[in-house]
Amino acid sequence: MRTVSEPKELAIVWRQQYENLAREFARLLGKGGTVVEIGCGRGQLTIPLAKLVKSRLLTVDSFARPYSPAYRSPRHTLSREKLKGRISLFKEDYRDFLVASLE
Ligand SMILES: C[S@@+](CC[C@H](N)C(=O)[O-])C[C@H]1O[C@@H](n2cnc3c(N)ncnc32)[C@H](O)[C@@H]1O
Repeated sequence: MRTVSEPKELAIVWRQQYENLAREFARLLGKGGTVVEIGCGRGQLTIPLAKLVKSRLLTVDSFARPYSPAYRSPRHTLSREKLKGRISLFKEDYRDFLVASLE
């Protein structure tokens, strides 16, 4: 645990926190399979996780306001990180996604 006193350090620590979380998930997930991430937002967890696992990732987010405007689609980042082929992004409410998945 680290105390952050400089606001500019917050983004770094935040990213590290997601990277730690991704490592934990990767350890639990093992190999292969499909992961569904609800509320992926801009992919702070999605991207480090995708780099660690071979699983296919289905990510779901409505990107609906009034949720934070910072939670925008990670499409450009996925492209830049060359992860587009492994991650499917569904822009919809997770309840609709779940219903459609059961049909
Ligand atoms: C705390 S943020 C997650 C942020 C994410 N870790 C990121 O990297 O940006 C929660 C996300 O859940 C999404 N969300 C909230 N309600 C939702 C719903 N009913 N269906 C789909 N996504 C939803 C929001 O749009 C938001 O992006």
